[in-house]
Amino acid sequence: MVYQVGYFIGSLSSTSINRTLSKALIRYAPDDLEFTEISIKDLPLYAPEYDKDYPPEGRALKEAIAASDAVLFITPEYNRSIPGALKNALDWASRPYGENSFDHVPAGVIGASPSGLGTALAQQSLRGVLSYCNARQMTSPEAYIAFDADVYGEDGEVSDESLRKVLTDYMQEFRDHVERVLTVLPRDT
Ligand code: FNR
Repeated sequence: MVYQVGYFIGSLSSTSINRTLSKALIRYAPDDLEFTEISIKDLPLYAPEYDKDYPPEGRALKEAIAASDAVLFITPEYNRSIPGALKNALDWASRPYGENSFDHVPAGVIGASPSGLGTALAQQSLRGVLSYCNARQMTSPEAYIAFDADVYGEDGEVSDESLRKVLTDYMQEFRDHVERVLTVLPRDT
């Protein structure tokens, strides 16, 4: 069994450190996880008027989540919360009312920041939203990554052994979490 993981990068930056982190997470993930990015950059700002007829970008978002066995969020911290672009994507996915795309979906949360806090507050903020959206979050381990550009290679390789272990363990636990959730809550995709 191969699990399809749709991953969100919470940053729109062309030099995103969270995109760099995503490459490392994918590189060190177990072989039975396959990854597809779910893009958030072309979504208009959500408004309830869209509910009766979602635009192509909104539909593509919901279809991408529906096609995923699990979702993984790799996000920066903006002003002690998540970036607005990511919150906008979450709002799109949660609507129209009664068609919340995250219901019962296995989910993981991780992020990198240049500071020692490593997106801890953004992750807590994101967890609150995902709880309300009824996603089945992995609660442990947590991973708050204080980003050091020197240890990441072009293709996701990580030269620091202890960080490599943290990321490898995180992805192994995420894989096991996905399997556990899907055992009792299979996705009908
Ligand atoms: C930041 N940054 C930041 N860092 C942090 O640790 N806590 C914070 O609350 C904030 N707030 C914040 C707000 C805004 C508007 C910006 C632009 C930046 C710094 C942030 O961690 C840094 O820019 C990262 O490089 C952002 O991640 P990406 O975009 O490189 O993945």
